[in-house]
Amino acid sequence: MEDTTELNTSKLGTKKYWDNFYDLERKNFKENSEDTGECWFDDNDAELNMIEFLEDNLGQYNIRSDSSIMDLGTGNGHLLFELWESESFCESKNILGVDYSEESVIFATEIAKHKDLNNKIKFQQADIFQEDWNPGKFDVVLDKGTLDAIALSGIKVGDGKSTIVEKYSGVIEKLLQVNGVFLITSCNFTQEELIKIIETDSLKMFDNVRYPSFEFGGIKGSTICTIAFVKTK
Ligand SMILES: C[S@@+](CC[C@H](N)C(=O)[O-])C[C@H]1O[C@@H](n2cnc3c(N)ncnc32)[C@H](O)[C@@H]1O
Repeated sequence: MEDTTELNTSKLGTKKYWDNFYDLERKNFKENSEDTGECWFDDNDAELNMIEFLEDNLGQYNIRSDSSIMDLGTGNGHLLFELWESESFCESKNILGVDYSEESVIFATEIAKHKDLNNKIKFQQADIFQEDWNPGKFDVVLDKGTLDAIALSGIKVGDGKSTIVEKYSGVIEKLLQVNGVFLITSCNFTQEELIKIIETDSLKMFDNVRYPSFEFGGIKGSTICTIAFVKTK
């Protein structure tokens, strides 16, 4: 059977690439404070769709205006700033963006200060696969493009027998409260592949965002997918 957890490796799967990327974004921001950096999947309005999905599902599982929220591989923190500015989650006392790139964390913190949100949204440097990393449990965990980047690292674990992608659902389980929700947007994996990667005994898909689909060669698809999972136990 085809292995859906393996993608070709790319420089986008290396920390060095992201350090250089956010170092450049910081320089641009210093020159022009309007320039807060790249917004991944902007063409598909992924960010807006993720926020609208959470707003539409307020009251479902642990999605509340005071939910604790973590953004995995937060980059420039754009998703969290937009989420805050939507005003739907401004009762939250715990909004945390995590990234393994120090440059990302410095940059996102600079933007937070500039927006006067550094008391509301925090950023932390960590590799999410570090076993001794224990930031606590969250009501909502977000991923926009991070699993995609991780998959491109080609890192193998467990004596080279499995890919790092296979460890990802364990990270989500560790970070979520029971009834907590994981919302992920990916451009590298199809909905079926994401379900296969994420679902476990306790993580179950409960809904998805419907994007316009295309048909090519008799196969239907869309360029990105956004799926929500809930931790049931
Ligand atoms: C495609 S970017 C997406 C950034 C952000 N989520 C956004 O939508 O703009 C992928 C991000 O994942 C981060 N990342 C990759 N592997 C990581 C890991 N093991 N732990 C923490 N962050 C990681 C990268 O540094 C980068 O910021």
